[in-house]
Amino acid sequence: MHLDLGAGDGRYAAALAKADPATLHVAVEPNHASTVEASRAAVRGSPAAPNPVFLLGSWSELPGPLPEASRITVLFPWGSLLQAVATANPELVDRLRAVATPDARLEIVTAIEPATDRSELRRLSLDGFTPEAMATAWRERGFAVEQTALDPSHAYQTTWWRRIRRTPGRTATLTQVTLPGQAPPVRRGQRRSR
Ligand SMILES: C[S@@+](CC[C@H](N)C(=O)[O-])C[C@H]1O[C@@H](n2cnc3c(N)ncnc32)[C@H](O)[C@@H]1O
Repeated sequence: MHLDLGAGDGRYAAALAKADPATLHVAVEPNHASTVEASRAAVRGSPAAPNPVFLLGSWSELPGPLPEASRITVLFPWGSLLQAVATANPELVDRLRAVATPDARLEIVTAIEPATDRSELRRLSLDGFTPEAMATAWRERGFAVEQTALDPSHAYQTTWWRRIRRTPGRTATLTQVTLPGQAPPVRRGQRRSR
């Protein structure tokens, strides 16, 4: 199962569902209108793909039981979702642990531009946000993290990315986190992966 948290209009999950019919793609989004529209659009296809599911809700109220997710994406998070991933919020970590397979991979793609996004970062108490600081927060919880600067034509062509990609200075960064149980905690003195 692939879980997309903060799925927005759900198009990313819907496109993956079409391309990969053997996998269940679960899109979670707290915006009611977006979620209703995403579900309607998914059944409009002919034939409708049976494997995208659109759930209304926040990461903090992930419904259960869900099938285990081997891949979790958080693409261009904003608001309380950005705050949770930026700080590796312990409650988020627990919730992801509860739904993830032993070898699950969490992919967070951010494209924060500090000057343009200043007021949101301040509202979230994330004034010093950088992708590197986010990676450090996850490493400090014992996860292995790899970070890559993405080319604008990267694989995460979501609706939001298409909207913001032209903002000067806005570049996307992929932060890949290996989920728990499996990735050995980083030991003191051990060289950390990039
Ligand atoms: C900038 S949009 C990106 C949407 C989509 N991933 C895309 O790239 O097109 C951020 C999304 O995160 C959602 N979001 C905000 N807080 C959330 C939360 N607590 N749990 C889940 N999603 C949340 C918002 O409703 C919004 O749809």
